[in-house]
Amino acid sequence: MRVAKILRPIAVAVVSLVAMAPLASRADTVVKIGFAAPLTGPNANYGKDLENGVKMALDDAKAQGVKINGQPVSFQLIAQDDQADPRIGVQVAQKLVDENVAVVVGHFNSGTTIPASNLYEKAGLPVIDPAATNPTISGRGFKNIFMVISSDAQNAGTAGAYAVETTKAKRIAVIDDRTAFGQGEADEFVKAVKAHGGNIIDHEYTTNQATDFKTQLTNLKAKNPDVIFVGALNPQAAGIMKQMNQLGIKAQYVGGGGVKDIDFIKLAGDVSEGAMAWEYGRPLDSTPVGAKFADRFKQKFGEDVLSYAPFGYDATWAAIKAMQAANSTNPDDYRPKLQSISFDGITGHIEFNPDGSLKNGSSTVYQVKNGQWVTVKTVSGL
Ligand code: ALA
Repeated sequence: MRVAKILRPIAVAVVSLVAMAPLASRADTVVKIGFAAPLTGPNANYGKDLENGVKMALDDAKAQGVKINGQPVSFQLIAQDDQADPRIGVQVAQKLVDENVAVVVGHFNSGTTIPASNLYEKAGLPVIDPAATNPTISGRGFKNIFMVISSDAQNAGTAGAYAVETTKAKRIAVIDDRTAFGQGEADEFVKAVKAHGGNIIDHEYTTNQATDFKTQLTNLKAKNPDVIFVGALNPQAAGIMKQMNQLGIKAQYVGGGGVKDIDFIKLAGDVSEGAMAWEYGRPLDSTPVGAKFADRFKQKFGEDVLSYAPFGYDATWAAIKAMQAANSTNPDDYRPKLQSISFDGITGHIEFNPDGSLKNGSSTVYQVKNGQWVTVKTVSGL
């Protein structure tokens, strides 16, 4: 009796497994979505924010029961930590190629995206760039790179034009961290300043590991600039603002690439009234879809969007939509669909130019007023 009592539930369990077998074998085709960004180190907060955007897109796709070629699919996120290091970026890119992922969303830094995308191009693997903004990324004639974010030719270029035409700055100085991002941003800024007849009185350099900028800032202070353009990400950009204030430098701070993020003012502490930032995209809360995304993100992850998460979300959906349109997860099938994709994302309308750059991307200028970054204006399609 006792044995029978024990066996019975087991038998029932076996029967139910058998009954489920046809369902299980029909189960979803696994589609591997590659992702790479800094998940450790000083840029890890950005990388995690971006990864959460990708996760949210994949969870939404699952909730919607997305099918490809009529088949249910299950998306598997294969995330790699590139540590914001170009050399490690290439190593993890190779891992993603070896894993046979269907697409890569990433990387975060221009410095990793540029060398990693050489490898993806050779492997014929599409990569959707949600964050890296150096214009070189889409300027090499590659057919596998697509940017859902406006490049720094637009972001920093607009800042350069603004400094000359609107701020009427006469003495413009620059400091950059010599990374592909910081240097790229500074180059675009300088190009635009010169094109508008402006004058660069000094250009100083730091690194993306530095915490002390006093030598460079003292050099700049001696030249009495009206504007200092800062080409660097938050850890350095915020430190530069803090030390400008400590040294009593009155020049207007102009930056980009994340300085209006919620972490910046915390890091900079002593913020400069009137400082400006030219950033990619439009403010998240400027549209109902953006505001809803921000709420859903906070509920899901328990924290606010830091910066690039909505771009990670749109990049992931660009890939999914192209695969759906092609009825295939094979890059050779879905790449042409990606090239002609057109949809309204969280960050704006997503459509690519023939070189893979974002068509009619937006940039927004923010300014510190009463100790907070506030939105000044958004421009599109420059
Ligand atoms: N926009 C930044 C870069 O290009 C994150 O590195």
